[in-house]
Amino acid sequence: MVSIIYQCQNCGAQHKKWAGKCDECGSWNSITQETAIGSQAKIKKIINRSKADDIEFLGLKGEQSVPPRMISGMNEFDRVCGGGLVFGSAILVGGDPGIGKSTLLLQVLATLAQKKTTGQHYYISGEEGIEQIRMRAERLHLSEAKVMLAANNHLTNILLSLDKMPIGSVVIIDSIQTLYTEAIDSAPGTVAQIRTCASELIRMAKQKNITVILVGHVTKEGAIAGPKVLEHIVDCVLYFEGERHHQFRILRTVKNRFGPTDEIGIFEMTDSGLQEVINPSAIFIKDRTTQPGSVIFVGLEGTRPVLMEIQTLIAPSSFGTPRRSVVGWDSSRLAMIIAVLETRCRVSLASQDIFLNVTGGLRIQEPAADMAVAAALISSIFKKSLSEKLVIIGEVGLGGEIRGINHCSIRLKEAAKLGFEIAYLPSQPKKQIAGVEKQITLKEIATLEKLMNTIRTQE
Ligand code: TYD
Ligand code: MG
Repeated sequence: MVSIIYQCQNCGAQHKKWAGKCDECGSWNSITQETAIGSQAKIKKIINRSKADDIEFLGLKGEQSVPPRMISGMNEFDRVCGGGLVFGSAILVGGDPGIGKSTLLLQVLATLAQKKTTGQHYYISGEEGIEQIRMRAERLHLSEAKVMLAANNHLTNILLSLDKMPIGSVVIIDSIQTLYTEAIDSAPGTVAQIRTCASELIRMAKQKNITVILVGHVTKEGAIAGPKVLEHIVDCVLYFEGERHHQFRILRTVKNRFGPTDEIGIFEMTDSGLQEVINPSAIFIKDRTTQPGSVIFVGLEGTRPVLMEIQTLIAPSSFGTPRRSVVGWDSSRLAMIIAVLETRCRVSLASQDIFLNVTGGLRIQEPAADMAVAAALISSIFKKSLSEKLVIIGEVGLGGEIRGINHCSIRLKEAAKLGFEIAYLPSQPKKQIAGVEKQITLKEIATLEKLMNTIRTQE
């Protein structure tokens, strides 16, 4: 029996009838009509009829085979994958249209092909023609690489080709939203099409020990269109992000069955494709100013410390409600820091517009940046520039106290490596900062009030 269902393209929730808004995720205009294949009765019948063997249980301890990996030679990409591509794994690379997914993956595939690992290297595009991809390869100076191109978006054809590929091959499908199969009665890009195409592809790839990399476009809301259903059927989910008008791009691990998550790789988009950024800290603070309101913070992106500049600007507000404009940080966190400053340090910002910017198109997510933001605000309020050799790290509590942060010593070492000489930080257990004191002067600050006095009274 074939039945009609209404499914949200954002969260995958099923509804009995069409509605303008999905009750589950709250997104608008995301529900479309789809065909459900099979009915409960049919599923039950098949399950009852199957004569499967029972499963074999094993102990926790046993022979471990470390998944063999392919090193592409693009270090940033390899690190984000947890040390190279795992043979036979399925990877989803999501990102806004035009951010550079096709460019990145063509570069990865071509560098991999040049390293002559086992298997072949295939690029199947459902979006662009062969000519377009060739033009891109030429621009990237990779035309000589042994990559096999195809422009196709028919699932059955791709599955048949996959079946004939040698073991250990790598296949890029650009993009999963363009694939379709007649088995499903809805248009390409709908949840049912995407789910079926992706799971069939992955099943076949696992059988044949082929690595598949799926490209997925992201909707405005930030979810991979057609949607979260893909995230749990793949082994690894990477997001490629960045400001379109900024040259930096960040590849971020969201899920990885074979390695750590929260790892990032940083690239720069140039005329000849994406270049790896080997020393991001130096680049992000390259154009720093020594104006009041500028502070250097040492963030942690995955396992790696990155120095970034936080800038604030305070200007008299011409409206009743002052503006709070934040780029690269959390606006509710800024509101909290402002409230703590006003309450604990008795400064008034009620009639001031506040602008906060994290330079380089980066986005800070950890609370360890609180003290740096507070220092930037204090520096703006009192028009005092901070030393250009200073870094600040620490979390701020509602009582105005500065709280400890994790991985202190890696952050401080990175700052010392780049020539910073002094760090303001909360008091840390001696063990955490052992050995770093010799490289950088540490000034422990316990409260926001002390921070304010330190900045106010400096030369
Ligand atoms: P693309 O890889 O097509 O993006 P996606 O697959 O994510 O949609 O990248 C397109 C953008 O990248 C386009 O705006 C042009 C830019 N670009 C460069 O700046 N330099 C290059 O060498 C290439 C190939 C693309
Ligand atoms: Mg593309």
